[in-house]
Amino acid sequence: TEPQKVVVPKRKEELEVDDGKKKVSIFFGTQTGTAESFAKALVEEAKVRYEKASFKVIDVDDYAADDDEYEEKLKKESLAFFFLATYGDGEPTDNATRFYKWLVEKAEKGEWLKKLQYGVFGLGNRQYEHFNKIAIVVDDKFAEMGAKRLVPLGLGDDEQSIEDDFTAWKELVWPELDQLLRDKDDMSIATPYTAAVLEYRVVYHDKPEPSAEDQTHTNGHSVHDAQHPIRSNVAFKKELHTPQSDRSCTHLEFDISHTGLSYETGDHVGVYCENLSEVVDEAVRLVGLPPDTYFSIHTDKEDGTPIGGSTLPPPFPPCTLRSALERYADVLSSPKKTALLALAAHASDPKETERLKFLASPAGKDEYAQWIVASQRSLLEVMESFPSAKPPLGVFFAAVAPRLQPRYYSISSSPKMAPNRIHVTCALVYDKTPAGRIHKGLCSTWMKNATALTESQDCSWAPIFVRTSNFRLPTDPKVPVIMVGPGTGLAPFRGFLQERLALKEAGTELGSSIFFFGCRNRKLDLIYEDELNNFVETGALSELVVAFSREGPVKEYVQHKMNQKASDIWKLLSEGAFLYVCGDAKGMARDVHRTLHTIVQEQGSMDSSKAELYVKDLQKSGRYLRDVW
Ligand code: 2AM
Repeated sequence: TEPQKVVVPKRKEELEVDDGKKKVSIFFGTQTGTAESFAKALVEEAKVRYEKASFKVIDVDDYAADDDEYEEKLKKESLAFFFLATYGDGEPTDNATRFYKWLVEKAEKGEWLKKLQYGVFGLGNRQYEHFNKIAIVVDDKFAEMGAKRLVPLGLGDDEQSIEDDFTAWKELVWPELDQLLRDKDDMSIATPYTAAVLEYRVVYHDKPEPSAEDQTHTNGHSVHDAQHPIRSNVAFKKELHTPQSDRSCTHLEFDISHTGLSYETGDHVGVYCENLSEVVDEAVRLVGLPPDTYFSIHTDKEDGTPIGGSTLPPPFPPCTLRSALERYADVLSSPKKTALLALAAHASDPKETERLKFLASPAGKDEYAQWIVASQRSLLEVMESFPSAKPPLGVFFAAVAPRLQPRYYSISSSPKMAPNRIHVTCALVYDKTPAGRIHKGLCSTWMKNATALTESQDCSWAPIFVRTSNFRLPTDPKVPVIMVGPGTGLAPFRGFLQERLALKEAGTELGSSIFFFGCRNRKLDLIYEDELNNFVETGALSELVVAFSREGPVKEYVQHKMNQKASDIWKLLSEGAFLYVCGDAKGMARDVHRTLHTIVQEQGSMDSSKAELYVKDLQKSGRYLRDVW
């Protein structure tokens, strides 16, 4: 008999339609805006290529109000792309946390997403242990749920050029979309695409309205987050290293009384800092306009039609050029290739245009990687090298200088001890780049130089907000805790210990605790020494173990001390202890993780794979928590 002909349904016809156009949803989980900008860039380019489709850029958090809605809405999607960044210890971005948790823990099992065709692009950094974990997991989950993977998972690596990874991934996307979104007859007209340089509409104002500048970071919002920070004064500040130290670490206290801000022990504070005045001077000079130019930027044309869809970040309030460069422009990071193209479009010297275009092109890939990325050339340095490139303000703020992002710190106090203050412990970033520039960390330099209220009524202030974390003490204070945090990794543990001290003073019985701290030398950087000793004396901390890396002939690190205390650690873990690690993710946290594995294996007499399971279980049950960067 004739074999039965199997008719494979054309997925193309199954695509959801919106206003007669095939519907494509582009989701993003973003922290600093890169994932969002990639999502929008994909859409801008796709719009030109596929006129008969409709594209929507969606913040995964805004997509659904609750878990049921995620399910209900995703079921209806037929073509979607996801841009998802991975942070710190393999965590999703704040705006993707709810979605991720739902997808991994609660979403229905089985193949219920059969209608969906999708692609995922991850944003991560290969130096980290959990490189692109979120994107990997989401990509897998969708496949498990029956969705069809349209393109291989894109693994963007910020250590190299993430823009190149994105460009390469896009080249895999277009042929697929050509199949799905183009009619047969327009298949031949492959639209050549050249990215248009985006720009704000700029309005110049004669006179600054006196109140206008105050609109920046004003209150008026009951919830404070990255989009709605609140002004907070620097109440107190001190240097934590001794004068002999050639490094610096600042203890700084923000006053949060009357701000409506509150926090819990273990939370993070986001701080918006201004560029240093020397940096602003340089930026003003390179932009080439008077610093008191008063202007506003707009995302619509004069007739009200929007510019570039929703691609541009929301405008900042009207202000002078100097203020705009001070508060909103990241001019010290290396320029992205799109920024080079925007500069090229506005360079009057053709040689400069050509060179900028080359650096941004696939042929200039190696040179870009070397001359810009590896040498950590800042946008200002690049502009200095191309003096004829003078983009207008609308282009400069839209395409050349990214928005200045908040910096995050683990709060080093507990609201039980300091309900009206947020304490920060911040090491000064000060190093020489390969190109020879002295790089002064934006926020750490600001903190070091801040004027506290104790010094002057006219004290420093910054727009801040609190970011909730899952780095929490066990709810039962009798549960033992093991803390590991060298350097400024100490920060959240100072909060933990303040909290335990407050509990102790209130008569609560505490489980035992051990803190592994690491620094270079007792005489230089044993920060908060008196406080730490006091925690031990009062019983808030059972044992303090300090590793000094530059005292003896050999380096001693926290993990070496942990090895020496292996049996104690094992005993505590067997009693249900929580283990916390805070600090550098690339070196320390990875080494500590390996040490933990060895301790479990040896002390628990397990083979390596059993030990791995044990550590995984600790993690899964929320007893092994990391706050790493
Ligand atoms: P070092 O600077 O002497 O190398 C706080 O920064 C402390 O952490 C310092 O004493 C530093 O030592 C130490 N440190 C550096 N790398 C580390 C690693 N991989 N693991 C643990 N501690 C480390």
